[in-house]
Amino acid sequence: MKISDEMKALNIHEVNKIFEGELSLAMHGNGQELLSVLKESNNKVKMALIDPPYNRRTKFHHYNDSMCRDKWVDTLETHCRLLRDCLHEDGSLWMHIDDAEMIRARITLDRIFGEKNFVASIVWQKSLSRDNRTLISATHEYILVYAKDKALWKQTRNKLPPTEEQLSRYKNKDNDPRGPWTSGDLTAKAGPGRRASQFYDLQLPSGRIVRPATGTAWRYTKDRLDEMIADNRIYFGSGDSMPRLKRFLCEVDAGLVPNTWWSGEEVGTADSAKKHLKSIFPELTPFETPKPEELVKRAIRIATNENDYVIDIYGGSGTTAAVAEKLNRRWLTTEKEERTFYEFTLPRIKYVTNNRSIESQSSRRFVTLCEHALIKKLVKLYALTRSNF
Ligand SMILES: C[S@@+](CC[C@H](N)C(=O)[O-])C[C@H]1O[C@@H](n2cnc3c(N)ncnc32)[C@H](O)[C@@H]1O
Repeated sequence: MKISDEMKALNIHEVNKIFEGELSLAMHGNGQELLSVLKESNNKVKMALIDPPYNRRTKFHHYNDSMCRDKWVDTLETHCRLLRDCLHEDGSLWMHIDDAEMIRARITLDRIFGEKNFVASIVWQKSLSRDNRTLISATHEYILVYAKDKALWKQTRNKLPPTEEQLSRYKNKDNDPRGPWTSGDLTAKAGPGRRASQFYDLQLPSGRIVRPATGTAWRYTKDRLDEMIADNRIYFGSGDSMPRLKRFLCEVDAGLVPNTWWSGEEVGTADSAKKHLKSIFPELTPFETPKPEELVKRAIRIATNENDYVIDIYGGSGTTAAVAEKLNRRWLTTEKEERTFYEFTLPRIKYVTNNRSIESQSSRRFVTLCEHALIKKLVKLYALTRSNF
């Protein structure tokens, strides 16, 4: 039986069982087949993270990267329309691309998602070194980000975790039970909107009287400030310094708004991704275009939360599924080249789940590779199920 016949056998009731059963799915076959059954399934997917062939007019060892341009655009449009259909209302699509087809990819995605739902064009520094054989050495690629509905996505997208440097600004100089804090200015510009009750003398613990400098006012009225002093939210230092406002780490949103520059040092490069893959599969002819795990990790963390579904129909070496699995997301992936699927996509996922079973002995989550009853009849489908140990 051909994969397409097998997919036809998978009716919508059965597809919903994948979601209800919290299964992740790796499939050898054309991603379009999976998308055509998923589109009926009530928009369960939170993120599509895709890395299509870039149409660089090259034949790679593991896949063909050369198509006539119109065909490339048509195929991308068909796939992305189907992907949009299976996205959750606050979902997003992230697409890796380079300059070969960037312009056409942008126009195609604008057409599908609407210009108003364009979020960003992220620039990834894919290489830290220069290629001296070229006129101008290309050291970057892009990730185009579109929301299904930008206003909804704005409410749910995550910030990046604070950096070590940011966190190091929070200390607990007075052993406050609320934990580390950093201090902020207790005065602000005395512009319009300030009330007369924000200009007053304040006596420090040392007895010295202080006032805000000319052109500034206290941030709070005297009554409010007294309440905050009583709640140990104001810091007087040795007792004689200008008071400061304590901002507790546990109360502030310390995350960073993501920006569009993703450096190779922060998220890895094409070379670091190849090295990583080589360390997992030292015997195989290297897969030429893997993405670094840190890059994919950052995207998935911004766009999803634990247990959300991530889909990548262009599986390749399986980076998206491997990272999603490590981050406790569920995932759906397809790879149409049989050899690539059995040499890389599937073994990479098995490698991650096998390693996780050992790692996760101390955390309660336990992952097993199994054949789900529904999947058994589809010989080329593999499913991952989670269970708590
Ligand atoms: C750029 S590679 C993906 C690399 C991947 N992100 C990684 O980190 O290894 C694109 C892959 O998509 C596969 N592919 C292309 N068209 C496909 C389709 N319609 N369905 C499934 N896989 C497809 C190719 O065989 C190739 O392995």
